[in-house]
Amino acid sequence: MDNTPFSEKAIMKVLAGETLKTPPIWLMRQAGRYLPEYREVRAKAGSFLDLCYSPELATRVTLQPVERYGFDAAILFSDILVVPDALGRNVRFVEGEGPRLDPLSLSSDELDRLDERVQAGVSAFLAPVIETVSRVRAKLPMETTLLGFCGAPWTVATYMVAGRGGEEQIPARRAIFDHPDGMDRLIGALVTASIDYLVAQLRAGADAVQIFDSWAGSLDGEGFRRFAIAPVRAIVAGVRKAVPGARIIGFPKGAGSWAARYAGETGVDAVSLDWSQPLDFVRDEVQTRSPVQGNLDPLRLVAGGRALTEGVEAILTMLGSGPLIFNLGHGITPDARPETVAELVRRVRGS
Ligand code: CP3
Repeated sequence: MDNTPFSEKAIMKVLAGETLKTPPIWLMRQAGRYLPEYREVRAKAGSFLDLCYSPELATRVTLQPVERYGFDAAILFSDILVVPDALGRNVRFVEGEGPRLDPLSLSSDELDRLDERVQAGVSAFLAPVIETVSRVRAKLPMETTLLGFCGAPWTVATYMVAGRGGEEQIPARRAIFDHPDGMDRLIGALVTASIDYLVAQLRAGADAVQIFDSWAGSLDGEGFRRFAIAPVRAIVAGVRKAVPGARIIGFPKGAGSWAARYAGETGVDAVSLDWSQPLDFVRDEVQTRSPVQGNLDPLRLVAGGRALTEGVEAILTMLGSGPLIFNLGHGITPDARPETVAELVRRVRGS
């Protein structure tokens, strides 16, 4: 059992505002198809959701990248779309194509049914995922932070409305204008569901949680305030009401200069940044407001060589004098080579 006060873990120190000489490192999507040991478990699991809902297999793949690389964090193996699945939206993952859901029309009947599930408590429907958190907690080295996560309401809503991913999330963006009340109700339901789900993860042993807003960058200015900042601020407040001092990382992908306001206004403990953010802007406008995480272009990891070393050096030089968690600017891609990931870890740790 882990008896380390969580404040002794490197990532928890950074989330409390400390600057460490060597920044801690983990990678978004660190358990995934670039790892042969993941592909082996994945092939045996059946569907992708079967893997997410198997505490035994999900625990195994969560631990794989920590065992191989000694990352400073393990991130729960699951998906942001288990929440709409728990809300009865019939989520499937189509091989080679991505997620499919029953598209939500935002009629009041549909939203009523959604609310019933939300009121019943979404974490009750996600018991196997919460069980995975407890199992990982029991097996993780003392110094390793366990991260839980959920999708931000806006990003989850884009998949629920369109029924799939898309280039510019047009169906959900149109719904903001065509069905403003329905969108507000949907976002409100997802705020409540996310609080319930994150609190359950923290109580089961997650040290901190990350809120993934992969499509924040598809919103205009007013939309960003209403659908990216306000719901995340409500989740942060709701989670901390149940779990005082809960540590929360926000990832508003594509936020551009809005990242500074996001850092100041949502109440998150750290902001995770995508690779399009200029490092001087991050240092001067974001890191002055909160610790930061990121933001290496995942393709530098695929390219390796100078692309990798220069990218790592730039981040360490520009952001290493403030609170920093080293990470990619988005998830690792399946074509990254496992040996190059090992080299990245060595470079960041200077070993
Ligand atoms: O980071 C981790 O290692 C934890 C696991 C994790 C997964 N998805 C596993 C996964 C996390 C944190 C996510 C988050 C997620 N899922 C996001 C937000 C972050 C991001 O990447 O933008 C989003 C938008 C999703 C939705 C999703 N899940 C899509 C669009 C896809 C298909 C695209 C793809 O990469 O295949 C998934 C599938 C998925 N989720 C896989 C994994 C490992 C690949 C499926 C497989 O292995 O068969």
